[in-house]
Amino acid sequence: MNTADLDAALARAREEIRASSDDAGLKAVERKYLGKGGTLAAWLAEIPRLPPEQRGAFGKAVNELKRAIADGIAARGAELERERTERALADTSFDPSLPPPVAPRGSLHPITQVTREIEDLFTSMGYQVVDGPEVETDWNNFEALNIPQDHPARDSQDTFYMSGPGKLVLRTHTSPVQIRAMRRFRPPLRVIAPGKVFRNEATDASHEHTFHQLEGLVVDKGVSVAHLVHAMKTLLRGIFQRDLEIRLRPGYFPFVEPGFELDARCPFCTEGCSVCKRTRWIELLPCGLVHPNVLRACDVDPEEWGGFAFGLGLSRLVMLRYGIDDVRLLLSGELRFLEQF
Ligand code: DAH
Repeated sequence: MNTADLDAALARAREEIRASSDDAGLKAVERKYLGKGGTLAAWLAEIPRLPPEQRGAFGKAVNELKRAIADGIAARGAELERERTERALADTSFDPSLPPPVAPRGSLHPITQVTREIEDLFTSMGYQVVDGPEVETDWNNFEALNIPQDHPARDSQDTFYMSGPGKLVLRTHTSPVQIRAMRRFRPPLRVIAPGKVFRNEATDASHEHTFHQLEGLVVDKGVSVAHLVHAMKTLLRGIFQRDLEIRLRPGYFPFVEPGFELDARCPFCTEGCSVCKRTRWIELLPCGLVHPNVLRACDVDPEEWGGFAFGLGLSRLVMLRYGIDDVRLLLSGELRFLEQF
């Protein structure tokens, strides 16, 4: 064991350090020379066997060697770290300054939003929100609403008839919920019933086989057209956030008498626009006083009770509100459309 051995060991260690290309390699070199069972530990263990006068110098030399190797390892470690950083910075496929991807957030369908608004409005006036099935009996959808079998009004509602037993249809309007509500809750009652309805017709920008309506029904004593008009004005104020002038035109629906088409002043213009087709009026709300035959069909005595009803075209209202020009977009599931709401 002499200084030449130590010099040789240092040279070898430096060579191995330089050759280490990663932290693991460097750690291995460190273990080999500086570790517990390593080269230097073995040499230090030799010291007691040396002639006493050599021990001091040898111990000192081994310690210097130890420091030199440790320094070499630390320097190489720093170099590897620097190389890693440079490589990462040179790699343009990864931009550390980019914001992380944002999880897409859903939103409520515009029909749901408007439905909820109107539900809030009517529940604040003591109405209940009620529901009925989309597959309805012929009786609820037509018969009880004073639309008998051969009535021409059946032709105006192109009906999807269900095959199979029982006379079932896809409801063509939300009006059958009037029947269900009266039979179930008995007057006096105030209900609204939003929901899907179905018509067997060719689709285009303003016709869809499936769309939404919102039915309203009040049955009480002494109900008049004035009550109806007040309720409709309140509804319009809730929807358009201001008072709109209205007019009633006669409208024919077998389940009301008298029946009306309620028009509102076009909220979008002062001089006529494409929405109101230059008429300044928009047709919004068919309505009327509940026909005595409808009350009778629900075992409600028309001498004692009266009522009003309306059938808001929800899909049409949503289209007006948001300037949507094709009804088919509403149920398209098209994300580029839905993401705007
Ligand atoms: N059910 C009718 C339809 O879909 C709309 C309607 C008209 C509903 C007058 C009513 C009403 O409640 O009073 O064409």
